[in-house]
Amino acid sequence: MIQRDPAEATTGFPRRRPRRLRMKPAVRDLVRETSLQVDDLIYPLFVCPGERVRKEVPSMPGVYNLSVDELVEECRAVADLGIPGVILFGLPESKDEAGSGAWIEDGIVQRALRAIKAALGDRLLLIADTCLCEYTSHGHCGVLSAEGQVANDPTLELLARTALSQARAGADVIAPSDMMDGRVGVIRETLDAHGMTDLPILAYAVKYASAFYGPFRDAAQGAPKFGDRKSHQMDPGNAREALEEARQDLLEGADVLMVKPAMPYLDVLASLRRTFSVPLAAYQVSGEYAMIRAAALNGWLDEERIIWEAALAIKRAGADFYLTYFAPRLARMIQRR
Ligand code: PBG
Repeated sequence: MIQRDPAEATTGFPRRRPRRLRMKPAVRDLVRETSLQVDDLIYPLFVCPGERVRKEVPSMPGVYNLSVDELVEECRAVADLGIPGVILFGLPESKDEAGSGAWIEDGIVQRALRAIKAALGDRLLLIADTCLCEYTSHGHCGVLSAEGQVANDPTLELLARTALSQARAGADVIAPSDMMDGRVGVIRETLDAHGMTDLPILAYAVKYASAFYGPFRDAAQGAPKFGDRKSHQMDPGNAREALEEARQDLLEGADVLMVKPAMPYLDVLASLRRTFSVPLAAYQVSGEYAMIRAAALNGWLDEERIIWEAALAIKRAGADFYLTYFAPRLARMIQRR
């Protein structure tokens, strides 16, 4: 006998049975609201000096520091998988107070950009992460004041110089990740003044001061030597402020807004989705990758299903595309389906 729902007037049971659309895989496929596509993937890569270098990052099994020659081969494989783009991070030969390795003409990322462009042309979109932390001797995202604070305005000029030099070396997209106030505007003005009005800016608009970046600092050797990044990256307790950061970057000329990290901040991503119509990106960061890998290597969870579900969650929350260290695996999984 059918147990009548006392709330039938509101739920419709037994006439409405949501399980009907879950019975057959083909029906589930038809009604699924979110799906994964290879063309939503951006793969982060770390380029280092030397030749034939392929050095695994200890806290990120499966992620490597690659010399330019190895990087070009990796990029070819990435393009062959149909992944549309990569974002590049550099480990410079040497570091200094002002992070000059970020903008010099033969900087590590500049050399990488030229080599990939020469080998692959427009087969792969090249996104340049624009920040100084990997290049400063103190590991901070900008120049330091006499008091040891990251000085906002003096840093802007260096960021603009970095963006310009990346653009000249072949970057297709500039992605400022430093979180200085006003950096998108200064970078936009600089690019425009040099005739690059059509080069898009993907702004790390909403970037939290997060412990989830831990393994990245291992990978890019960009940990601050003292202090932290809380004077410029956002406080994890704040969600409304994210909308203000996003609005500010849009006013300054950002073309795409990014939320970072991804999974712990899906509420923030969803609120940006409701508020803005511009394209949104999310960054599944190093700590998110490391957690999944570590649990999987212990046999504690089904890695492929977790990778898939996490990616689906990021898209469902509102990302048009996302940066993930799982990009090649996801591409293979998507193609296998
Ligand atoms: C700064 C930058 C960082 C990440 C991307 N760009 C590190 C930081 O802000 O401390 C982190 C990415 C990750 O954790 O995967 N250049």
